[in-house]
Amino acid sequence: AACSSGGSSASQQKKIGPTSPLVNRAEAARRPANASVHAIGLTAQPGEIDLGGVTVKTWSYGQLPGPEIRLKRGQVLRAKISNRLPQPTTIHWHGLALRNDMDGVPDLTQPAVAAGRDFTYEFTAPEAGTFWFHPHVGVQLDRGLYGPLIVEDPADGKDYDAELVIVLDDWIDGAGTDPDAVLAGLKKNGMSMGGTPTSSMPDMPGMGSSPSTSMPGMGEMPKSALLGGDAGDVTYPYFLANGRRSMDPASFAAKPGQRIRLRLINAGGDTAFRVGVPGAGLRITHTDGFPAAAASEAAAVLLGMGERVDAVFTVPTSGVPVLAVAEGKGGYAQVLVHAGGSRASAANDGAVEQLKAAKTLTVADFTAAPQVSLAEKTPDVTHDLKLSGPGAKYDWTVNGKAYNPNEDGLPVRQGQRVRLRFVNDTDMYHPMHLHGHTFQVRGQRSPGPRKDTVLILPRRTVEVDFDADNPGQWLSHCHNVYHGEAGMMTVVSYV
Ligand code: C2O
Ligand code: CU
Repeated sequence: AACSSGGSSASQQKKIGPTSPLVNRAEAARRPANASVHAIGLTAQPGEIDLGGVTVKTWSYGQLPGPEIRLKRGQVLRAKISNRLPQPTTIHWHGLALRNDMDGVPDLTQPAVAAGRDFTYEFTAPEAGTFWFHPHVGVQLDRGLYGPLIVEDPADGKDYDAELVIVLDDWIDGAGTDPDAVLAGLKKNGMSMGGTPTSSMPDMPGMGSSPSTSMPGMGEMPKSALLGGDAGDVTYPYFLANGRRSMDPASFAAKPGQRIRLRLINAGGDTAFRVGVPGAGLRITHTDGFPAAAASEAAAVLLGMGERVDAVFTVPTSGVPVLAVAEGKGGYAQVLVHAGGSRASAANDGAVEQLKAAKTLTVADFTAAPQVSLAEKTPDVTHDLKLSGPGAKYDWTVNGKAYNPNEDGLPVRQGQRVRLRFVNDTDMYHPMHLHGHTFQVRGQRSPGPRKDTVLILPRRTVEVDFDADNPGQWLSHCHNVYHGEAGMMTVVSYV
């Protein structure tokens, strides 16, 4: 079931590029007449960052996470990026259906911003939600170049009392290595450099051995899929929540009984996180920014690289940590939520083990809210993306090919309903992302959640549908930055 659209082959078709007049037309259609402009500046720069008890030399937007950008739906973001890095860079605005020429993909939507140069991004933010931004050059993201981008909905009913944005990360530095060296090592040695240590396996809880480990809602997912050491290839000394290590965590002042809306963002390069609040249930409200629900509250939610979940919990009488355990890697990060005078104490190993054994929601448990569900429709075109790797040189491919921006991608036409079938032919996690669109996941539960990034578990196939309503050239790729950079990317091409 590869491309089934009629007409001539893609190679004979003229692509609708990022500078097409159609891009201006699509932007004009989503920009409200009275749109106000939110202007900011960002400087990508080398510097020292305190991760909580350890200071590292790295690249960032001046702090970790980068400064939060907060807009209202329909506002225009004007962001001037100053590149003070020794390499070219860009910014990609992850999850936003924006104009194609502002998508930040070098060679595809713009030339990369050279070292020492500036570039101004300007686009309308058409939807509210929890988004984020990062470079789309090499593995720069994994050095600390990322930040949250929140688009508020002026019509939000606000069924919560306070908001806590948490950006999760896996941190490579500390051993004198950097992400480029790690990628070079992976390419040189195949899997032997990173290789998730099997020594992290024994502390995985035995699934199904006690009543508390049952996982309703997991469908026929193999138990090993959620617990295997297959989330990533890279070994990280630290895991961070809002830029802090678990031994010296960030904290948040709340009051007992307050309902806190968590906006969880996984900015990790190679790590899925299982996130929960010990002793409090999570009520899912959004997936990748779009209103959604789960059948029930749960103790934990699984978040792949690039994915976001918003969830509300009620602060107990004593403070609690929000805990994020690195799936299959044996480390964690946390943010302490204090309850008035009752300060949260940091998570201990017991809490971590409990979270690992807890009922954990995955994409299969979510449904989209009716107002954001796509109408059922037979797709006009279906494209398979067969995900394979790693090859001998750590090559990861889509449909047998490593990414090449000059090659024909997967053709779509404006107005089509498009189905993508992500076929995971490997034993690893692949969080697959589509730029410029939000798709609807097809699954056991209908309607499935609206998302822009969906974690494809080992040996699984996931189908997603979207309406081709944003002309241009759009990447679809694995958000494990090492897989993506090693070739697991392709282009959805409007023709
Ligand atoms: Cu978060 Cu192609 O990116
Ligand atoms: Cu991958």
